[in-house]
Amino acid sequence: MPIDIKLTVNGRPASGSVEPRQSLAHFLREDLRLTGTHLGCEHGVCGACTVLVDGEAVRSCLMFAVQAQNARVTTVEGLAGGDNSPEQLSPLQRAFQTHHALQCGYCTPGLLVTATALLAANPDPTPDAVRDAISGNLCRCTGYISIVEAILAAASEMRQAAR
Ligand code: FES
Ligand code: FES
Repeated sequence: MPIDIKLTVNGRPASGSVEPRQSLAHFLREDLRLTGTHLGCEHGVCGACTVLVDGEAVRSCLMFAVQAQNARVTTVEGLAGGDNSPEQLSPLQRAFQTHHALQCGYCTPGLLVTATALLAANPDPTPDAVRDAISGNLCRCTGYISIVEAILAAASEMRQAAR
């Protein structure tokens, strides 16, 4: 039997009526049409579906939508400011662009969300800390070097902006 849920998604109120078995990923993609959250493995391995739930990076394929009742969820669509125009991209998004940290882009939403959580917790990570943080996000294209460089560059820019 469907259950009514209410939550906040990307700063706006959201609601729905979901089956108890429906994943948060499917709720975001199918019910709210936030298709930036990608599905790869659907069993917690690839990290493509990563979103922030109350500030923590979680795999939305492993979480039921009903578990997000009253939670604050941020998807990749919520990382940029305003209307998601190029001028409003977050420092991480800009750095991914500048450092060519994506090719097909399938892994990119999950990586951006994971890196956002990392930099919120640790604004000055070492390269090893970045590698450790993204070790659960699989990328088949880039070889990861450009992704690590982009995250370190964004961290540096954000620290300078905070001074
Ligand atoms: Fe969720 Fe792969 S789709 S971890
Ligand atoms: Fe293609 Fe990462 S850019 S999977």
